[in-house]
Amino acid sequence: MNVNLLDLKPQNGALEPELHEAFLRVLRSGHFILGPEVERFEKSLAEFTGAGHALGVSSGTDAILVALMALGIGPGDEVLCPAFTFFATAGCVARVGATPVFVDACPVCFNLDMRDAARRLTPKTKAILPVHLFGHSADMDAVTDFAWKHDLRVIEDAAQAMGATYREKQVGTMGDFGTISFFPTKNLGALGDAGAVLTNDTALYERAKILRMHGMEPKYHHPYVGGCFRLDALQAALLSVKLPHFNDYTAGLRRNSALYTERLSMMTDVEVARPENCGCLQAHARDHSSRIVLPVAYPFRGHIWNQYTIRVMGEGQRDVLRTHLTSRGIGSEIYYPVPLHEQACFSYLGYSRGEFPWAERLAGEVLSLPIYPELPEEQLEQVCLAIAEFLGK
Ligand SMILES: Cc1ncc(COP(=O)(O)O)c(C=O)c1O
Repeated sequence: MNVNLLDLKPQNGALEPELHEAFLRVLRSGHFILGPEVERFEKSLAEFTGAGHALGVSSGTDAILVALMALGIGPGDEVLCPAFTFFATAGCVARVGATPVFVDACPVCFNLDMRDAARRLTPKTKAILPVHLFGHSADMDAVTDFAWKHDLRVIEDAAQAMGATYREKQVGTMGDFGTISFFPTKNLGALGDAGAVLTNDTALYERAKILRMHGMEPKYHHPYVGGCFRLDALQAALLSVKLPHFNDYTAGLRRNSALYTERLSMMTDVEVARPENCGCLQAHARDHSSRIVLPVAYPFRGHIWNQYTIRVMGEGQRDVLRTHLTSRGIGSEIYYPVPLHEQACFSYLGYSRGEFPWAERLAGEVLSLPIYPELPEEQLEQVCLAIAEFLGK
């Protein structure tokens, strides 16, 4: 039997009557953009995350853009952000005319290496943009201390990590802004594009709200140049159906990650990454001798496992494993094969190979396995079996 990397049908299918009802409600209301459905969802999201304010926007990308614009970040400003993340994080920095300054990744937690961030600070640095990659919080004490010391604004890119926690606080609620994506494959997935901005600062919230609608306030008066970053009423209504089930989705992801770790860590040549080796804490992250390194949830961080991403050590070995999984009908994905400093669109920044050793290495080693909440256990066992075959070769 084939094992898909992701299958959205069981999750949405289970809620079909409620989603259908929400669709009809919006259809019959004739109100399709912003409005009461969006306000209701925003209120529930603020309650769920503990943020002072939640603002529904058109995507996780636009959430980052609105946050940067609301903080007045633009030409001449530098923003520290990971070299190892999805493109949107740095793409938005460039789109507001600021300069993305890349920071190397930690090979254990995959997030910003704050020692490297400190090395890349300049008088032009205005903000830091940590990403809670794969659903695991960045080291937010280190980020917020650093930001406070150097008078930087903090935007948390929580696109992949809604619901994850750091010392009991939800990610996205510790910086000036937090940004969330409801792209269908995310832990709370819409049925199209959608996103949200979180903040505890009422003045920033008000500004972001104006920016969401062309920087317009009052009608046809524009104190700012904003954009069209509105959330559709339909997506808000559908998300309102799914939000009450979010904890079940997280429980499914946690169960599957625990099963992977239990099964795979018993195999020869496989080890679980050790938080004490975290590159963020040490001058030089220690390396592993095993062929496969499994991801780990750190103490004090509630991982929500948007991805279960293993490292396959040894030149070309990740691709060998991926080909083997494909031959067994098993889906997998490489998040991300090219670090951002090596993307053609950022060549103007003048970085060269070797400047971000861990980001470059991770790009060649990481492989994400199927983990979606409804993944049948027998399919997860199939993945483990195929990995055992690879190791036995
Ligand atoms: C880290 C990160 N930031 C931002 C985004 C952008 O979100 P969206 O696809 O909703 O625009 C994503 C989406 O995959 C992401 O993974």
